[in-house]
This record gives sequence, structure tokens and C-alpha cells, in this order.
Amino acid sequence: MSNAALRLYNQHFVDKGFERVDLFALLVAHFGVRRALYPGSFVHVSPSFVIPSVTYVDTDRRCPSFFAAPVVRLLVKERQRYHGDPEVVFHHADYSAPLDEPDSSFDLLISQWAGPVSQACKRYLQVGGVLVANDSHGDASLAALDDDYALIAVIVRRGGRHRLTDQDLHTYFVPRSGKQATRVAIERTGHGLAYTKSPAAYVFRRASVGSRLPAERGAIRG
Ligand SMILES: C[S@@+](CC[C@H](N)C(=O)[O-])C[C@H]1O[C@@H](n2cnc3c(N)ncnc32)[C@H](O)[C@@H]1O
Repeated sequence: MSNAALRLYNQHFVDKGFERVDLFALLVAHFGVRRALYPGSFVHVSPSFVIPSVTYVDTDRRCPSFFAAPVVRLLVKERQRYHGDPEVVFHHADYSAPLDEPDSSFDLLISQWAGPVSQACKRYLQVGGVLVANDSHGDASLAALDDDYALIAVIVRRGGRHRLTDQDLHTYFVPRSGKQATRVAIERTGHGLAYTKSPAAYVFRRASVGSRLPAERGAIRG
């Protein structure tokens, strides 16, 4: 199984040049995250290279043996960029059902190509914590419409590298058609709108219920 686990990770992430370690490193550098929840992770274990505690959630049948494989623990140990023992937790579970995790216990929620994570798993993200979401299945669009989240930065990818910026945030989520997105339409269609700008991901701060934090412009540099 060990070699099979490595092959699976290499096939999906290394060979495609899409491990995205630099993306997670940016989030650590800018927001000091230490404890992340990654629903719909598949076997994308790269956040553990830079974040000391990561909880992964997926229903895929290949995930339990992957996360249990000693070679995966070795891989994380070899590539970890922080001190101390990595904490890698895996739940073979549907993230839309209650997870065996306390509310407000994570400072980063990761949503990458896995559906409406921002909504289903918001409860586990502490107020002041950070959501990184792309707009696959319209998840970033749902967060942008949600008063519990405030857009604080975007992540652009050029030449295979990620860069974070908080400049001109008002120029994002502008529909090309001029027609505004609605929660009902996104949930019905399973995707957002075509926007004039399409960054690789958006970063939101979780605000306290019903009270958006002001955008933290000026605090972040790309
Ligand atoms: C396209 S893959 C993306 C994997 C990874 N997030 C990445 O960026 O490479 C989507 C993953 O989300 C998982 N997924 C989708 N809906 C889920 C749900 N409700 N609960 C748990 N896992 C889910 C699928 O099993 C699949 O492994």
C-alpha cells in the first residue's frame, strides 16, 4: 500500500505541478494559521508541509488507506517546514453531515474544488479565522454573498506561483453579464457566474454573525 499511496499523491499533485504548497505557505505567512480543516481534500496532503495541524475530510474510498499509510507520515515529516510533530487527522466522512470536531476550533478552512464547503463547514471556523476558497461549484461566490464572511484578499497564480494581494478588492465578483449572482441560483446550478476577473482563490475572514469586518486593506502585501 505504501508505494501506492505515494503514487496516488504524485500522480494527482506532483506530476501536475499542482501541490500548491506555496499557496498554503502564503496563508501561514500572512495570517499565522496553525490549525486547518480541509473538507473534500482527497489525498491533497500538501497543507501539512507548512501547517502543523490539518484535519482532512473526504468520502473517497482511497483516502482512508492513504492517510493511514506510514509512508505518508514520512512524506510529511520529510517536507515539514515547522518545528514539532505534524498532526494529520483524517475523517472518512461526508462534510455536509456533522463532523466529530468542535465548533470554532480551526483558524483556516480550505475549499478547493469540493463543493459548498464555506457553508457546510463554517461552524468549525473560529470567528477571525480565514477561509480560502476557489469558485469551483460557486463556493467563493456563496461566501461573497454571506454576511458571515468578509473578503480580505485574493490569490492569483502566474507562472505556476501563487501571490496574495488585497488591492482593488472591489473589482472582484463583478459579473461579465452585469447580472448579479444569487444564492438560490448558485445552489441550483452548482456554479457561480463568469466574472471579469478570475483569481485562483479568494481569502475571506470569518466575521461574527451578521457583522462583517471591514476589509483589511493595507495590512496585506503580495
Ligand atoms: C475534485 S476533488 C478536489 C480534491 C482537492 N480538494 C484538490 O484541490 O485537489 C473533490 C473531492 O471532494 C470530495 N467531496 C465532494 N463532496 C464531498 C462531501 N460532501 N464530503 C466529503 N468529501 C466530498 C470528493 O470525494 C473528492 O475527493
